[in-house]
Order: sequence, then structure tokens, then C-alpha cells
Amino acid sequence: MGSVFRVLVLLAVLNVCVNAYIPRFLRGRPKGGFLGSPALDSHDKLSLSDVPGAQWFNQKLDHFDTEDTRTWKQRFFQSCAIKSKILFLMIGGEGTANPIWNIKGTWIDYAKKHGAVCLQLEHRYYGQSHPLLDTSLENIKYLSSEQALYDLATFITAKKLEFGAEKVIIFGGSYPGSLAAWFRIKFPHLVDGAVSTSAPLLAQVNFKGYLEVVQNSLDTFKSGNESCNDAITAANTAIQILLPTHAGRNQLKSMFRLCNDIDIHEKKDIANLFSTLAGNFEGVVQYNKDNRAFEGAKGTNITIDTVCGIMTNRSLGDELHRYAQVNNLMLKTYSEKCTDFKYGNMIDSLRDVSWTSEAAEGGRQWTYQTCTEFGWYQSSDSEAQPFKHTFPIDFWTQQCQDIFNIKFNSSFISRAVAHTNEGYGARNYTQDRIVFVNGGIDPWHYLGITKSLPQAPAIFIPGTAHCANMYPASKDDPPALVQARVQIGQLIDQWLK
Ligand SMILES: *[C@@H]1O[C@H](CO)[C@@H](O)[C@H](O)[C@H]1NC(C)=O
Ligand SMILES: *[C@@H]1O[C@H](CO)[C@@H](O)[C@H](O)[C@H]1NC(C)=O
Ligand SMILES: *[C@@H]1O[C@H](CO)[C@@H](O)[C@H](O)[C@H]1NC(C)=O
Ligand SMILES: *[C@@H]1O[C@H](CO)[C@@H](O)[C@H](O)[C@H]1NC(C)=O
Ligand SMILES: *[C@@H]1O[C@H](CO)[C@@H](O)[C@H](O)[C@H]1NC(C)=O
Repeated sequence: MGSVFRVLVLLAVLNVCVNAYIPRFLRGRPKGGFLGSPALDSHDKLSLSDVPGAQWFNQKLDHFDTEDTRTWKQRFFQSCAIKSKILFLMIGGEGTANPIWNIKGTWIDYAKKHGAVCLQLEHRYYGQSHPLLDTSLENIKYLSSEQALYDLATFITAKKLEFGAEKVIIFGGSYPGSLAAWFRIKFPHLVDGAVSTSAPLLAQVNFKGYLEVVQNSLDTFKSGNESCNDAITAANTAIQILLPTHAGRNQLKSMFRLCNDIDIHEKKDIANLFSTLAGNFEGVVQYNKDNRAFEGAKGTNITIDTVCGIMTNRSLGDELHRYAQVNNLMLKTYSEKCTDFKYGNMIDSLRDVSWTSEAAEGGRQWTYQTCTEFGWYQSSDSEAQPFKHTFPIDFWTQQCQDIFNIKFNSSFISRAVAHTNEGYGARNYTQDRIVFVNGGIDPWHYLGITKSLPQAPAIFIPGTAHCANMYPASKDDPPALVQARVQIGQLIDQWLK
């Protein structure tokens, strides 16, 4: 007993001491996954004890090899009605499936109205859904959106049979929103309607548009005559001016509470530093004012108004000092002691193949999917963004080689991305019984369908962030968001007729 306890403590200590580090916001994905959990508040009369327990579905490992009969256990959660001819399915994505979604969120309101059964299926390789013993390159090769769509198909088929169900509506936000759209293309006979929220449908290696939307979103902040974007640019220029000298680097180390000295010859560290500081703003823009609570509800009250309020406040010193102040606020909010910008630390963490590693939270798996299917690297290659040209596309594509395999070079990624667009048709979408929902503040809307197609409506909500319509309603929701939720509900009514 005593020795087990000591081993556990030792592991915990080791975890802290090892230079494990994955940025809290990487490739547009916050730790935990794109979709936060909905906030539970005192009015709900709900508590964590109301969430359903895990169930396990026997799933095929390789849907594309009939000879391979290996199976594994895929986790799912079931709630709402006990029996029904209507099934609602929340598609899991690039993080642990959180059963809080089985008791809260807009889809639960729709489900209650129709007396549906609510199912949430965790995505293979994320959370507790482990097809194989680790995430080594040999074992992670069964991670793909195509395998995931087949997982959904076998799961839905089994559940339809079990419940004698006649109708199925699927929901997904962010990458699962893409899966919802692709599922409707590949398996139209299995689904009667799809709500695809904040879904990127165009795969793209160099997603320069991301920071263009960040710039536009930061421009919505108005205070006096100061521009938030101009202040960010000025701060980045100031960093570039300080970097070449020893004294300048020391000043940056102290202002930004860097964990290590800056080595001017380590170009990847420098790109990673600029990208990490930009991440402070990317994450805030992507989730601005949604009714979300990540575990411990950290950071949900930091909005565009907060960070731009700091960036434009002259009494806080020059732009560089304000930029540092935003960084300090983030460190404090997320209980990080210092800013780790060492590229090698990040790569080492993401190379860890164990299910108990920090990377297994999803960072490694999602990176693999970007390298082999989607790209979606938020480079600083656009002119229309405030972070200067400090983390170009090569910085991102190089990571695929450094983390996984020398073969994953930029031409490999380009071919993989082209394959994805050919397989799913990008934004040339021809299915019906689907609605595309996007928020204007959310950088991901840039790759989505934001205008109605002849056969499928799109709802564009100005001023809202990533997946805003999926979170529980809040009294502060703008009218367009309230209206969007109603409109989605009406479409579901039609699909179920
Ligand atoms: C902006 O406002 C400040 C006072 O808040 C003033 O000192 C400055 O001259 C103004 N700048 C411009 C360009 O109007
Ligand atoms: C956010 O909320 C936390 C906890 O309630 C509080 O300590 C912090 O000051 C708030 N931050 C901002 C920027 O409002
Ligand atoms: C600017 O910062 C000062 C010092 O923290 C604060 O007192 C003041 O309210 C801020 N001004 C604005 C407009 O936020
Ligand atoms: C990528 O690797 C392949 C071999 O795996 C090679 O033929 C190709 O030239 C490389 N492309 C680049 C851009 O390095
Ligand atoms: C439609 O498909 C073509 C290739 O057939 C592609 O070049 C184009 O980008 C796609 N359009 C959109 C809007 O995705």
C-alpha cells in the first residue's frame, strides 16, 4: 500500500519535472478538444452525478480490410429517453467525449421536445476509446476520418436495430461538424438530418485565413482611437527589435516570464515563441463569450474585450508591456509558472506514444490527423494579420516530420489534403437534409459553408464564436444566436416529419 502510494507520488512529481509541454492552444485546438463543456449553473438543478455512465461498443479496427477481424471497445454515452423511435447522435471529436453533453446543450432541448434517445459516441483514439495499445506510428495508422465515419455507421446501424428506430439526427461541432456533413454524403440511408456546426469543409495546408479572421474579430473592439491590431503589431515589432541583442533577449525573458533563455540560433524556438504569444489571442477569439466552461471553468471570462482592453490601455505602458501583460494574465489563469517556448520540449511531448502521456489528451492524435488528412496550419503568411511573418507554414509542416516520420514532408501533406478534398468534395456539397451553422467571429468559418446552397440552408451568426449555438442558451446571447437556435429546431421538426 505504502509503496504503491510512493510510486504514484513519484510519477506525479516526475510529470511536473519532465519538460512535458504542449501549448494550451495549438493548431486552433485548445487542450481538451475544440468543443468545451457546457457550463452547469445553479439554475440547472443538474449536477455531475446526473451524467450517464460509460458504455462500450464492440467496434471493428479496420473497416477497409475484410480479412482483419480485430475489434476494440468504443466508448459511448446514452441519455434522454429510455426508448424511442428517434435517435439523436452527438458525434465525438478530437478530445475526450464529455458526458456533460448528454445532459446539457441545445441538442438536449431538441431531444426532449421529440422524446429522442441521446447518444454520444467517442471518436476512435481519443478519450478512453483506444483501439490499440499505444499511439505509435504503426498503431495510429487506423486513425482517420474515414475509419471514424464507418465507426459511426456501424454504431448507428446497431442502435437502430436495438431501438427499432425509424429516424436518426446527427450533431457535430467543429471537426465533428465536418464528420456530420461527410457522414450525410457517405451514408445518406442512415441519417435523416444533420446539424453541422462550425465545420471546416475545405482541407487546406496553409490556413492563412485563420489569422485574417482573428484580425477582423479583434477589430470589433472599439475603445477611443486605439486599434488592438496596431498595438499587437507594434508589440511584435518591438520583440523583433529586442531579439538580436543579449540584453534584449534577457528583457524579453523577464517580461514574458520565459522558462528558458532565448538562443538566437534556435529559429524554431523563436517561431514557437511568437506562435505561443499569438495563441493567447487566437484562443480568446475562437471562444469569445460563448457559454462554455472548460474543466475548472478556466479562462471563460477572458474575452476580446479583456485582451484588447489591455492592448489599448496606455496607462499600462508601451505596446510590448501590454502584450506581456496579456501573457501574464494567461499564465495566471491557466496556472502556468512560466512560458515554455522550447520547440524541442513540444516535439518531445508530442512524440510520446503512451496513452498516459500528456500528448494522449489529443494533441498527438490531432496533429497526426492534420499531417495525414487536413493540414489547417494557422501560419502567419497572410499580409492581413497583426502578428508579423513570424511563424510561416514551414514551421508547421516541419513538425509532422519531427513528430512522426521523415516521410511526412510538405509534398506528402499536400497530397493527403488533396485526397481529403477529392474524397469529400470540399465545399462542393450536394446533399440535402443538413444545415451548416457558423459564427462570424470564429476563424474556422473561413473554411466552412456560410451561404445557403440550393438544397441545404446555411446559418451565419454575426458576432458569435466557435460552436456558440451548441452551448446552453444564456441571457446574454445576441438575438441572431437566439434566432439560429430556433431555426435549427424548426429544421429538425421538418426532418422528423
Ligand atoms: C488618441 O487619444 C489620445 C488621448 O486618449 C491622444 O493623446 C492622441 O493624440 C490620440 N491619437 C490620435 C491619432 O487621434
Ligand atoms: C475571471 O474569473 C476569475 C475567477 O472568478 C477571477 O479571479 C478573474 O479575475 C477573472 N478575470 C477577468 C479578466 O475578469
Ligand atoms: C487601464 O489600466 C488602468 C490600470 O490598471 C486601469 O485603472 C484603467 O481602468 C484601465 N483603463 C481602461 C479604459 O480599461
Ligand atoms: C518528400 O519526400 C519524398 C520521398 O518520401 C520525396 O520524393 C520528395 O521529393 C520530398 N519532397 C520535399 C518537398 O521534400
Ligand atoms: C470544388 O471542387 C473543385 C475540384 O473539383 C475544387 O477545385 C474547388 O476548390 C471546390 N470548390 C469548393 C468551393 O470547395
